[in-house]
Amino acid sequence: MLSLTLALVLFLNLVLAARSPGCGKSATIKSQTYSTTINGKSRQYIIRLPNNYNNTRAYRLIFTWHQLGSSASSIAAGEDPNKGGVLAYYGLPPLANESAIFVVPNGISNGWANSGGEDVSFYDKMRDTVENDLCVDTSLRFHTGFSYGGGMSFAIACARGKETRAVAVISGSQLSGCAGGNDGVAYYGQHGTKDSVLPVANGRALRDKFVKNNGCTAVTETQPGSNGKSVKTVYKGCKEGLPLTWVIHGGDHNPSQTDSGSSKPFAPGNSWEFFEQFKSV
Ligand SMILES: *[C@@H]1O[C@H](CO)[C@@H](O)[C@H](O)[C@H]1NC(C)=O
Ligand SMILES: *[C@@H]1O[C@H](CO)[C@@H](O)[C@H](O)[C@H]1NC(C)=O
Repeated sequence: MLSLTLALVLFLNLVLAARSPGCGKSATIKSQTYSTTINGKSRQYIIRLPNNYNNTRAYRLIFTWHQLGSSASSIAAGEDPNKGGVLAYYGLPPLANESAIFVVPNGISNGWANSGGEDVSFYDKMRDTVENDLCVDTSLRFHTGFSYGGGMSFAIACARGKETRAVAVISGSQLSGCAGGNDGVAYYGQHGTKDSVLPVANGRALRDKFVKNNGCTAVTETQPGSNGKSVKTVYKGCKEGLPLTWVIHGGDHNPSQTDSGSSKPFAPGNSWEFFEQFKSV
């Protein structure tokens, strides 16, 4: 009987442990812009709630970091994919089927220099604010971004790896540092071989950090051929829960790269497929 009770308690812990303090509370947060102060500086971020937000359902939490020169409002509104921009919230909401809360931070001088770790501290504050008010599955925290936003997603994977389920780094480089950097984090990366802004070697270096941290077996990647299609490599041998997928394409510094014969950027579908494989613990 005692062991049955114990088993039940353990089971409930497992089921409930991943629920944030905001679960069950009547939410005060709405879909709008918020401000906070970090390191004496005023910082802004946009929150997007799912339709019909339900405070007993634990949602995924997805941070979308903008590229240099962009902004939170630009990511929330969506940009022109034909001019090097990204779809609204990196194109994820139509795929997420109202299963995610999105947070879109705004960078100092439209970038993520992360001086003294201040952008990671900004993340900590946004996470706590959201999770204390809204119902989040704390085992399902994700980050994605293009270029500088990819660098910032990488910096979060380095500094907050233990609490991060997965990142999707699009044409990134180590621009926001890598404090810590010793934990495994499920990692999706994509990069173009003709990237004229952040060379593909930079993206490979980020990837290889997590090939190592995740215990994956290094492989020689297949290069994109002349057919105009990206090539996806799913690494093998990675530790349980720490997969790594790498997509190489023949294009430039472009978050909205398409495969020939398609008009649809492939980053959203690839990123979502990668994030969606993780279920609540
Ligand atoms: C809210 O979510 C809970 C748990 O997922 C579900 O059982 C309930 O039916 C939902 N309520 C509404 C009004 O959708
Ligand atoms: C979207 O989510 C709802 C509620 O969880 C579910 O009933 C529905 O089947 C989902 N639709 C798709 C296309 O996954």
